[in-house]
Amino acid sequence: MCGIVGYVGSNKTVDVLMGGLRRLEYRGYDSAGIAIIDSSGVLNTAKKAGKLSALTAELKAHPINDGQTGIGHTRWATHGAPTDGNAHPHLGDNDKLALIHNGIIENFAPLRDELLAEGFTFESETDTEVAAVLLGREYQRVGDLAEAFRSIVARLDGAFTLLAVHQDQPGVVVGARRNSPLVIGLGDGENFLGSDVAAFVEYTRRAVAIGQDQIVTITADAVTVTDFDGHPVETEEFDIAWDASASEKGGWSSFMAKEVSEQPDAVANTLRGRITDGQVVVPELTEFGDDVLAGIRRIVIVACGTAAYAGQTAKYAIEKWAQVPVDVELSHEFRYRDPVLTADTLVISISQSGETMDTLMAVKYAMALGARAISICNTQGATIPRESDAVIYTHAGPEVAVASTKAFVAQITALYLFALHLARVRGSLTEAEQAAQVAELQAIPEKIQAVLGVEDEVRQLARWMSDTRAVLFLGRHVGFPIALEGALKLKELAYIHAEGFAAGELKHGPIALIEPGQPVFVVVPSPRGSAHLHPKVVSNIQEIRARGARIIAIAEVGDAAVLPFAETVIHIPLAAPLFEPLLAVVPLQMFAMELAIAKGLDVDQPRNLAKSVTVE
Ligand code: AGP
Repeated sequence: MCGIVGYVGSNKTVDVLMGGLRRLEYRGYDSAGIAIIDSSGVLNTAKKAGKLSALTAELKAHPINDGQTGIGHTRWATHGAPTDGNAHPHLGDNDKLALIHNGIIENFAPLRDELLAEGFTFESETDTEVAAVLLGREYQRVGDLAEAFRSIVARLDGAFTLLAVHQDQPGVVVGARRNSPLVIGLGDGENFLGSDVAAFVEYTRRAVAIGQDQIVTITADAVTVTDFDGHPVETEEFDIAWDASASEKGGWSSFMAKEVSEQPDAVANTLRGRITDGQVVVPELTEFGDDVLAGIRRIVIVACGTAAYAGQTAKYAIEKWAQVPVDVELSHEFRYRDPVLTADTLVISISQSGETMDTLMAVKYAMALGARAISICNTQGATIPRESDAVIYTHAGPEVAVASTKAFVAQITALYLFALHLARVRGSLTEAEQAAQVAELQAIPEKIQAVLGVEDEVRQLARWMSDTRAVLFLGRHVGFPIALEGALKLKELAYIHAEGFAAGELKHGPIALIEPGQPVFVVVPSPRGSAHLHPKVVSNIQEIRARGARIIAIAEVGDAAVLPFAETVIHIPLAAPLFEPLLAVVPLQMFAMELAIAKGLDVDQPRNLAKSVTVE
């Protein structure tokens, strides 16, 4: 939801903080701010509404003194509009303390009343400023930032990552986290804190994840982590698997264009090390326990947004190959239901960021009800994998654009690997059947590469449709979640109303939406591999064509049946039915991106969105 960075060391702190915020800006870009204790021991702050570029301009016009200790924040607004006054950092203890926050403090109102009654005043509408004033009051009592944190965290309800500096403690940054991400970057004579490793990857690739209800103190030469009671806790260092350049645009016009093009590698890298002699062996699952997997009788997938559509796609493969029933639930709905889970239920969470609060809370809820949990995640050291029994990492590399693309195809790939591993353990596929699916998987990177070649055709289509006001998407079987994903991409990138339907559902009501000229994308199943479904979808096309719809078909090369009815046919390579989603989604991603570009919109940071929604 917000980007957070902290630093102590001898590098130029302004540059370290601003560089970290630039790499974290995809997490939120309503406002940004930094606080630095300068070399004379004075706390300096600068903050500005708008994207990071506004703060950069502010610092150019009004440079602040540099020093060795600082914190920085880029905000996705929750409490209080995105204004200069509501931007972080917020101050306490007579402006000697600065605090930044990611999350939501749910009980900020009574705390604010308590402080007002004691004569404290507030400049902003934020929950964060209440924490800053509370911490400042505590610092005045105990005279130590870490001790002051330990005193106040017990009074805070909700989700928070808090970082603070105090000018009476130069050379020290203290952080506290509950249900919100925070990782340490270990340097040589310098140390870092960040919402994720992107904050400091250009300086160090050594990282340590901070666990639930922990407090971390960094100086230039030391890192101390305790629980909320002050007891030291064990930490585990990990190496960051990618370098700073991986999170740069690398000459692409946008992160999204770069990440769409990286999808062949995202699939190939996720497959790597998990296929042996035509059989799938996912090492993380072996550690989890093949015997435990063999005992699973039901799977519940929890996720949000695009990740949920990856789950809906994988449902078809898991049920077909492993013959285990799968329910796919939106995390935020599952969390407040009374699901019937048993010890032989496996909950699989899917999350690119590994920090989506809705999904994190769903996982914790499911585990509390007795289920085992495996996470599919693209971010090392993230919270959801740490809370799960096992994690299968996708290796898509950093996904910076808010709209998820390469993580989506990597999630489906990881879920297909899980399904084939489970099928092998359960003996529900013969070796030859498993090898055939593995061969299909291994051919996907090259086939996605081929689909990327439709870029010009899609760009022309998008330009021609740039004044479109509503678009429908149809799909059947595994094409249905792809229709949903295509609609979501268009909504979040081009701000156009779009809706995905199961093609068979159209005549049960939605066909009333069809009027002359209405654009409808149809994900057409293979006439070869889905001989039973293909004619049905062609009939659906005819039904809406007869009512004036403009059909854009995503169809297999050589599918002649759609030609008479579709105004545009975007061809994808031949693939077995369950693998078509990995190909059909690419033109839909590209269309949404090109239409957004045609409308002059920011494809990397769409309005109102954040890359990781770390509040419920
Ligand atoms: C994807 O384009 C969206 N930005 C959004 O739906 C996203 O997939 C969802 O918020 C889940 O995020 P996660 O994968 O990090 O949990």
